[in-house]
Amino acid sequence: MSVAFDVRVDPPYPVRIGPGVAADVAAYVPGDAAILEDANVATPHGDAVAAALEAAGRRVVRLPIEPGEVSKSVATWESLLRRLAQVPFDRSVTIVAVGGGVTGDLAGFVAATYLRGVAWVNVPTSLLAMADAAIGGKTGLDLPEGKNLVGAFWQPRAVLMDVGALATLPDAAFREGLVEVAKHGLLADAALLEAVLDGTFGPDADAAAWTRWVAASVRVKADVVAADARETGGARATLNLGHTVGHALEAASGHALTHGEAVAWGLLYAAHLTHLHLHPETDGRDAARRLVRRVAPSPPPDVAWSDLQAYLRRDKKNRGGRIRWVMAPRPGAARVVEDVPAAVQEAAWEAFVEDVATLRDVRAVDRPERDGGA
Ligand code: GLY
Repeated sequence: MSVAFDVRVDPPYPVRIGPGVAADVAAYVPGDAAILEDANVATPHGDAVAAALEAAGRRVVRLPIEPGEVSKSVATWESLLRRLAQVPFDRSVTIVAVGGGVTGDLAGFVAATYLRGVAWVNVPTSLLAMADAAIGGKTGLDLPEGKNLVGAFWQPRAVLMDVGALATLPDAAFREGLVEVAKHGLLADAALLEAVLDGTFGPDADAAAWTRWVAASVRVKADVVAADARETGGARATLNLGHTVGHALEAASGHALTHGEAVAWGLLYAAHLTHLHLHPETDGRDAARRLVRRVAPSPPPDVAWSDLQAYLRRDKKNRGGRIRWVMAPRPGAARVVEDVPAAVQEAAWEAFVEDVATLRDVRAVDRPERDGGA
């Protein structure tokens, strides 16, 4: 059982989701293949992709990448380009990315730039990459001055989400991915949100449930990307729900908080801000609290609102020095809001801090049970 649909950009490309779909990789690789793979998942995922390509008669060169954000560097990018040139591969090569978000971002940028652009196929192996980075063609690198400051929109030829890979994912990494899935639920799919919050979609579910809910999450992102592929309108910016304060907390913690943990807290802040600014009938704060309980993020850093301002001012959505906030008063109603008074932003922070204290108590009770079951 698998699900397939197109991401409707120009040209459209297929996403296939289900157990075992990576075994069909050769259908999307007509000639030589360079597999750029996270060294941590070379066995078994890279091996399986290489074996499928070799069985179909493709010439395969495997290029392992050191795991972690450190690989999204100009130095790693240059060394991969040089290795492709040394083989040498011509323009008929297909780059095949096997790994998480770092691998996909880097491999996609290698594909965007080698010989002025060659085709690539993405085989994401983490839930975070399936839910977010693998859809939408954002590729790129970090600079010492900041993350993702170099890059290109370069859409893949196909994305193969083999949910079998989720069975090998550590529990904490699964929970991180669930945060982006819940974000898509908050943006546009109430049933998806509930599946995360009640545990129907989680590490203990089966491959059929993983397929169904990963597909639901991907559909939300794919629809947004189809409406605003290059983030020139407001639609794609809504995918940043929870990320404004999330990124600030991640940076203020010195990256002790993972991205997913920081965004979970960022979603709680966004719910408080939406409550105070838009007074929606539905109470998004409750969903955000349930999400925090479900994914049990490490506590946010103990910082004052004023300490976060330097980070908030650098947010990539800002225009003309004004912070642009994403608010999702209910699924289907997400939008970017620019005119939020400073006093409301600060009041939302105070309410958030009070909430964090309550949730910490809850987590202290919840955690032993969760860790025992992990
Ligand atoms: N991760 C947000 C985007 O792809 O636009």
